[in-house]
Amino acid sequence: MPRPFYLTTPIYYVNDAPHIGHAYTTVAGDAICRWHRLLGDDVFFLTGTDEHGLKVAQAAEANGVEPQEWTDRTSERFIGAWRQLGITYDDFIRTTEPRHHRTVQQFLGAIYDRGDIELGTYEGSYCVACEDYYTEAQLIDGACPVHHRPVTRMKEQNYFFKLSRYTDRLLEWYEANPDAVRPATKRNEALGFIKQGLDDISITRTSLRWGVPVPWDPGHVFYVWYDALVNYVTAIGYGDDDARFQRWWPAVHHLIGKEILRFHCVWWPAMCMAAGIEPPGEVFVHGWLLVGGEKMSKTRLNHIAPADLVADFGVDAYRYHFLRDAAFGPDGDFSYEGMVARYNADLANNLGNLLSRVATVVTKKCGGTGPAPPADSPLAAITADAYAATAAAWDRLAPHEALEATWRLIHEANAHLEAEEPWKAEPGPAVDAVLGAALEVLRIVAVLASPAMPEACDEVWRRLGLPGSPTDQRLPEAATWGGYPGGLPVEKGPPLFPRMQPA
Ligand code: ME8
Ligand code: MG
Repeated sequence: MPRPFYLTTPIYYVNDAPHIGHAYTTVAGDAICRWHRLLGDDVFFLTGTDEHGLKVAQAAEANGVEPQEWTDRTSERFIGAWRQLGITYDDFIRTTEPRHHRTVQQFLGAIYDRGDIELGTYEGSYCVACEDYYTEAQLIDGACPVHHRPVTRMKEQNYFFKLSRYTDRLLEWYEANPDAVRPATKRNEALGFIKQGLDDISITRTSLRWGVPVPWDPGHVFYVWYDALVNYVTAIGYGDDDARFQRWWPAVHHLIGKEILRFHCVWWPAMCMAAGIEPPGEVFVHGWLLVGGEKMSKTRLNHIAPADLVADFGVDAYRYHFLRDAAFGPDGDFSYEGMVARYNADLANNLGNLLSRVATVVTKKCGGTGPAPPADSPLAAITADAYAATAAAWDRLAPHEALEATWRLIHEANAHLEAEEPWKAEPGPAVDAVLGAALEVLRIVAVLASPAMPEACDEVWRRLGLPGSPTDQRLPEAATWGGYPGGLPVEKGPPLFPRMQPA
């Protein structure tokens, strides 16, 4: 039985078009899922769009269309962006879908029935951009601490989730599940919120119609965050297909950006407890991709669309860059100059050189037929180490380290060629041994790098004369030395990643 591997991204708000920040999480999730498919796991990769709430309703109004039309259009833009970036999601959930409405009503209905949702009066300051409440103490000069924009005073009769009852149970749960939030700094941040003591939270609205109606009091709709978090169980059959739900839950991996930690690491586990299910197995919190030192946002007008960079670099180089350039965890700064520099160094030079050199010399010295790798090549042990490091890094959700380890192997193979200089030698067994080893490294690299660069790795595979695709291979067998059979036609082809002029 293949092991289940369930991974989610946040569902993105449709007030706005997709930008490289959204793509950052989605590409990372996609690459991690592709890695798990290579391992033979049964993968379920979920992404989607968060379509209710005041922010989306206001975006629709500002554009002069009904909210449904607006969400249809904008979610289509996310789907289009993910298609362009080669995102292999298994399900794309939209919170306006009937299946989700049903599940929200069931899930929150279960919490209500179990007694942890009660009526009360809410009064406070609200930031529409955050879709979140702030206390007076949290405001900076009376404005939202994140967006620096004016907040709205709100007073409503609302239903409250009795989060205050969960302080101790959350602390116990974190104690028993030390890896529930990674990295450890983020776990400590979550624990910090919980230890301060938790207030009950208002979870419904009467001032807004654009949401999921509260089943026991239809004058209310659920507050957007309470609706959105439930998407993670809607998609796996909560309340609808128990066997399916049990297969994927609670062993989930939620990838999120650091600004939504409190929702995922405090509210969501408490909601799960209140509904009578296990909290999520893992929340992995990453930092922000910054542009010019700042987070991208609609208010700052510093968005970059993935399509703009794909036009210049291609899909594979796009994906590679965001997976490799910054550690997945801390903040990282994006710059176009940095992207060109890494492209030239890692793709045009390191990988591109290895492929074109090997193909050129095989053409010249072996009549275009790739020799088999020798078992005793010094590259065999280096490959085994690189595979171990690559696999360990993917396993701890560290794509940047995984790719670094794979690229060390490419570097070693280039160094081996430079030391042996097969292009200067007479054809014969010595030349065959060096080239066979280099072809074998390229074969293994094509498998190991395919989660990051699926199209380019397909092309490497094809040029080596191999049938099928690296994405159809199984690890660890496919990384075992000796798999390149030899006797295959090797194709020279144009540069895989033509050098770019520095910006
Ligand atoms: O928060 N750097 O949606 P959202 C890195 N709908 N990641 C970034 C980023 C950046 N500059 N900008 C966005 C919401 N992201 C809610 C989520 S989940 C039940 C509901 C990524 O459209 C990152 O994953 O504001 C972040 O958490 C998410 O997009 C926020 O997307
Ligand atoms: Mg946001």
